Amino acid sequence: MSDRFERQVSRRQLLTWGLAVAGGVVGLRPRAGGAENAKASKDVARWALLSDTHIAASPKNHFRGFYPHLNLRKVTAEIAADLPDGLVVTGDIARSRGSQGAYESAKALLAPLAQQRPIYLAVGNHDNRQDLLHAFQGANADTEIVKDKHVLTVMAGPVRMIILDTLLYVNMFPGMLGRPQRTWLETYLRLCDDTPTILFLHHTPRADLLDTRRLFEIIGPCKKVKAVVYGHSHKYEFREADGLQLINLPASGYNFTSAQPVGWVEAKLTRESGEFILHAVGGNPKRDGRSTMIRWRA
Ligand SMILES: [Fe+2]
Repeated sequence: MSDRFERQVSRRQLLTWGLAVAGGVVGLRPRAGGAENAKASKDVARWALLSDTHIAASPKNHFRGFYPHLNLRKVTAEIAADLPDGLVVTGDIARSRGSQGAYESAKALLAPLAQQRPIYLAVGNHDNRQDLLHAFQGANADTEIVKDKHVLTVMAGPVRMIILDTLLYVNMFPGMLGRPQRTWLETYLRLCDDTPTILFLHHTPRADLLDTRRLFEIIGPCKKVKAVVYGHSHKYEFREADGLQLINLPASGYNFTSAQPVGWVEAKLTRESGEFILHAVGGNPKRDGRSTMIRWRA
């Protein structure tokens, strides 16, 4: 914990922009797979990190008093007010089991940002991989890096991002990378250069990710891997394990307990460190605007 501190930063003035001006829906722009160059400044990459948007086909869908459509509208409007280099959503894009209607709704809500910035999606246990990739084809197109898994690599200025696929069974809690994906990851990390690397996946390591131990056997000794970013628990939390930073994103759709915020995280990433700023749009507002600084392991 010694290399991390938090400070309250003044919340930037947010949005007045109405998403209604967005007009038609477009496919998410980014090209997937291989080493992509996402827009980023040379020294600092600024990304919006979201998780667990839980969009249903109907905007009236709600849970625990939260309306995920409404929340995602707020989140995308905030992001649009000061566009980052791109977005990553760490799974559970949809509600329940995923459906074509849910992904069409999610795509429409994300469209204003997708017209301007790359958006990379991981699949969660409430996603249907096939339906998701069908809706977002042309964006997070199937790379076939790992058969039947949705895996992406992205060069984002000073850092490399790897989007992994932990979906095991739709609408059941446990997740797993599986041996083929772990083998690919191990090989890829051995062959790629030493650019600081951040993994993005859905399931919580050491909780519902069944092959956490095997994953950590790969990334623990691999010093170029600096952090693992995930969702699933609907909890905003920073932990550390063997020098690896474990960053649990809050849900954008709804929380599970009133102690947790609902919103998104702004990340400023360099070769040496990451700054993570919470933007709460609902739930517990206590940490809204708070910045957490993390220095990567050497
Ligand atoms: Fe979720």
